[in-house]
Amino acid sequence: MSDFKHRYGPWAVIAGASHGVGAAFAHLLAARGLNCVLVARRAEALAALKSELEVQYAVEVLLVTQDLSHSDATERLIAAVGDREVGLFIYNAGGDPFITRFLDTSVEDWGSLLSLNSLTVMNCSHVFGAPMVARGRGGLLLVGSQAALGGIRKLAMYTATKGFALNLGESLWAEWKDKGVNVLNLLIGTVDTPTMRDAMVKLNIPNALTMSLPKAEDLAQLALDELGNGPTLIHPEDTLSNRASSPGQARRLHVLNKSAKAAVFIGND
Ligand SMILES: NC(=O)c1ccc[n+]([C@@H]2O[C@H](COP(=O)([O-])OP(=O)(O)OC[C@H]3O[C@@H](n4cnc5c(N)ncnc54)[C@H](OP(=O)(O)O)[C@@H]3O)[C@@H](O)[C@H]2O)c1
Repeated sequence: MSDFKHRYGPWAVIAGASHGVGAAFAHLLAARGLNCVLVARRAEALAALKSELEVQYAVEVLLVTQDLSHSDATERLIAAVGDREVGLFIYNAGGDPFITRFLDTSVEDWGSLLSLNSLTVMNCSHVFGAPMVARGRGGLLLVGSQAALGGIRKLAMYTATKGFALNLGESLWAEWKDKGVNVLNLLIGTVDTPTMRDAMVKLNIPNALTMSLPKAEDLAQLALDELGNGPTLIHPEDTLSNRASSPGQARRLHVLNKSAKAAVFIGND
């Protein structure tokens, strides 16, 4: 446990922490002694989680109430974090609040999903990743979706933006793996979160509230256990098959092979 804290502490930032997988990460990290910066839009939910973490684990907790789709989100987050040393950055926000055909949602609304799932992910990876690489330790964990793996009807911008984060994370893994910084994309099939249940109810899915779904706590635990085995963990497939022949392993080999082949043209530095 102290190894984990040394490698990924003393502070973790969880962007999208007020419920579901993000809140589960906060509990698991606080239990390992990491102080937590919790980011989301709903101040009350964040305040309740802060009290739980402080009482149960005696860690420090900083709240940042922020819409991560806003163009100044990263700047404001950095200002709030100040000189705290962040050893682990988790980006968990990013569900699709629309779930419509492409033309049935406005360009402005798709633009906010684009910012949330692409621009802010890029900005945060840069500003939090740089000091980790300089220190030679740390972790970047991007919570993604199996929707990143290809286009899906009614999920055009969700698949597109999740694909952005997947490629970014895999490339950073290839760049940082020898610099002591672990990168993991967690590609989720489905997980039980309030957002998912609300969407299922809104879309009139049968058994929306009773259907059995993987638990947020289990996925968060799995991702922390596998943080050093990037770049990509595909749930549930990677937990079902032999790791050596799993789809996540295939992506790892793809990144290594492509990086080696591309070096002929773009250099090996
Ligand atoms: N649920 C699933 O079945 C499923 C399947 C595949 C992948 N995933 C991925 O897993 C992650 C978590 O899923 P979820 O269903 O809990 O997603 P979510 O609706 O994006 O919520 C996750 C967290 O992010 C926060 N958040 C959402 N939009 C935000 C914004 N604009 N600014 C700041 N914070 C924001 C939410 O809190 P606030 O509302 O308080 O801001 C919440 O704490 C997402 O990246 C999603 O794409 C989920």
